[in-house]
Amino acid sequence: MINCSVAGYGRMGTLHVNEIERHANALLNSVYDPLIKNDRNLPFAHSFEDACQSKDLDLMVIASNDDQHFTQLIKSIELGHHVFVEKPMCRSLDELDQIFSALKRKKISLVCNYLLRTAPLYVWLKEQIYQGRFGEIYALDGEYLYGRLDKIRNSWRGEISDYSVMQGGGIHIVDIMLFLLNECPSYVSSASNKIVTNQDKFHFSDFHSARYEFDSGIVANVSANFGCVHPHQHTLKIYGSKGTFILDDQGPRFIGFTNPEQKAEFLSFKQKPDSKSLLLHQQINDLSQGMPSPTSISDLNTMASVLYADESLKQNKRMKIEHYN
Ligand SMILES: NC(=O)c1ccc[n+]([C@@H]2O[C@H](COP(=O)([O-])OP(=O)(O)OC[C@H]3O[C@@H](n4cnc5c(N)ncnc54)[C@H](O)[C@@H]3O)[C@@H](O)[C@H]2O)c1
Repeated sequence: MINCSVAGYGRMGTLHVNEIERHANALLNSVYDPLIKNDRNLPFAHSFEDACQSKDLDLMVIASNDDQHFTQLIKSIELGHHVFVEKPMCRSLDELDQIFSALKRKKISLVCNYLLRTAPLYVWLKEQIYQGRFGEIYALDGEYLYGRLDKIRNSWRGEISDYSVMQGGGIHIVDIMLFLLNECPSYVSSASNKIVTNQDKFHFSDFHSARYEFDSGIVANVSANFGCVHPHQHTLKIYGSKGTFILDDQGPRFIGFTNPEQKAEFLSFKQKPDSKSLLLHQQINDLSQGMPSPTSISDLNTMASVLYADESLKQNKRMKIEHYN
């Protein structure tokens, strides 16, 4: 049995608690949330320290506010617990370096909940790219269209002084970019604005556009568009020498021709994963079979790619991205 604790019992934490309770090989050791009433008779801990000190603990699940992730993650790694953490796993390049160093000292499994990777559409796309259906890929464009501004205005997200829309949403598109292209970008240049929410109390940009350049020559544009008047949607375009993929509100489709008379091939694969806790489910499976999934370096590199985009805004210059190997 894998003993699990959950930090943060909000929207995501509740889903993860439910997953642990459902999983045949998992036990819920404790739940810690400083603000939530224990209305389900769960084993609530008095502090995060209490939740992670238990000798029997195998896996710490972190679903607290973004600004708590790093401290809780480092503490869990140092105590030798495996970790499942919500994105973003941390909020600065220095923190990411500290996580990398801690992982060298402790051989634990760290999984970040980049859940789009598990959606059937992206699994299919990766396979098609691998099989050469796109030929040589030369460009990728992706947009994270948030469409839920009230969630920012009325939650902790609006209260964190330096909340980043790239860390909060664009990160999913960046992760899909790395997952599909199987390559880390080498440079990033960003621009941002705060026009839509200029009257709001929070101070961060609500639109961030990042241009990534890859050693292979691929150029990708990723934007985190939090002020858009549009229902929540991920858009993605992949351009290759043999074909083009488009995902928008019309649905995913492949176009392998230039003849304007021909019709695009619409695809029926689901754009969302079956469960937001699927990667947690897989991590518990792996741990219970004694094969802890080694920490995926690509999880760290997704985070690095996002943090360098934020750094490009701060320094107002094109940044070289240092990757982890
Ligand atoms: N992977 C995804 O697709 C995805 C989707 C949504 C949210 N998230 C991430 O999940 C995290 C939680 O988001 P949410 O939508 O559930 O937010 P939420 O506001 O519903 O839940 C956050 C909970 O954390 C609690 N909390 C605050 N400080 C804490 C602390 N020190 N220790 C433990 N708990 C603490 C809050 O009381 C709250 O109940 C965020 O980091 C968010 O970015 C990921």
